[in-house]
Amino acid sequence: MKMDAARFYALLRFEEASLALRAVMRMRLVDEIGDDNLSHSALREKFGFTEQAARTFFALLQVMEILQHTEDGHSVTPLAAECLADGVASSRKPYLSMGTGDDVDAFIDLLRGKHPDDALPLYSGEDAGETVMDNTDVAREIAIGLSSRARNFAQPLAAAVATKAASAKTLADVGAGSPYVARDCLNAMPELQKVMLVDRVNGMQFAREIMDTERIDASRIEFHEGDFFNAVPKADVYVLSNTAHDWRPPEYSVIIDHINASMPEDGLICIHEPILMTAWKNDSEWLHALWMACYAQTLLRFTLGEGTCYKLEEHHAILGKAGFEPSGSPVPTSDGCTALFYQRADRCEN
Ligand SMILES: C[S@@+](CC[C@H](N)C(=O)[O-])C[C@H]1O[C@@H](n2cnc3c(N)ncnc32)[C@H](O)[C@@H]1O
Repeated sequence: MKMDAARFYALLRFEEASLALRAVMRMRLVDEIGDDNLSHSALREKFGFTEQAARTFFALLQVMEILQHTEDGHSVTPLAAECLADGVASSRKPYLSMGTGDDVDAFIDLLRGKHPDDALPLYSGEDAGETVMDNTDVAREIAIGLSSRARNFAQPLAAAVATKAASAKTLADVGAGSPYVARDCLNAMPELQKVMLVDRVNGMQFAREIMDTERIDASRIEFHEGDFFNAVPKADVYVLSNTAHDWRPPEYSVIIDHINASMPEDGLICIHEPILMTAWKNDSEWLHALWMACYAQTLLRFTLGEGTCYKLEEHHAILGKAGFEPSGSPVPTSDGCTALFYQRADRCEN
């Protein structure tokens, strides 16, 4: 039986909801906002959050029904006002905040852009100093852990890419991490002649290890070791999977600009990501929204405030700046991820 740890990965994410709730109480967020209706930036400035922290934290608080968002701005929900405020008879804050400790203070610091001097980012560009990925033992756990998720989604992702780009000859998996997407795209796309894995040396070593242990046919797979902030190889199709979410919008845009510079006129980009959503139609969609918003907060913490999940409109805006438009509808794959496709605006029929 193929080991599938997806459920455990998802369960771990929900601790973020507890952390966010305890941070709300520690900051007296409900009392501080009171009856005010504040714009995103006014709320962000009130609490001294960075932009990336604010968009991530406020989205989670919306899904947790602590904040509500209207056209005029953010305000506290009646439920939160009743249960999480100080000095209200109905408040459950004294009980709910029991056991709150240093982890909450460290998290609030991170929301404000502060972290311990010795904290290392998970990833970086080649010239930006040491990262967690430079510690080989820890990096192996991370890379192998992530690859077990990639093994799950590689087939549905490859099937989605094959539908959109059946005649593509070359594909680049940017920030590849593992060879599973390459292998399954080669299986699903008969015209494909080669797949290029693009990753930094400290990540690529594990993709090579997985190729060997899984005995994956390497004849049509090329390794491009390098920094995607410098350049990406030429390809007909680009897959950027679970990688945009490690960066702020300006860095995400730099990767897209490099893809844009190397891609042919009729090329295709597949952004494969967990998508943040702050509206839902039923309980099951709400649970998915909570998972994604919790995941965004995990990313924010792991990347020292750089990463997050983006909403569909935010992806569209970042790709749109580089001249791309969505091509077709989003395709859910597995493990909470969704494939979004983009083409140059003048090539899109929809
Ligand atoms: C979260 S992992 C995603 C792996 C895989 N694509 C997936 O969907 O599971 C991000 C990947 O980007 C790579 N990466 C991070 N910074 C990079 C950089 N500056 N240049 C190239 N690759 C980078 C990491 O080594 C890692 O393999």
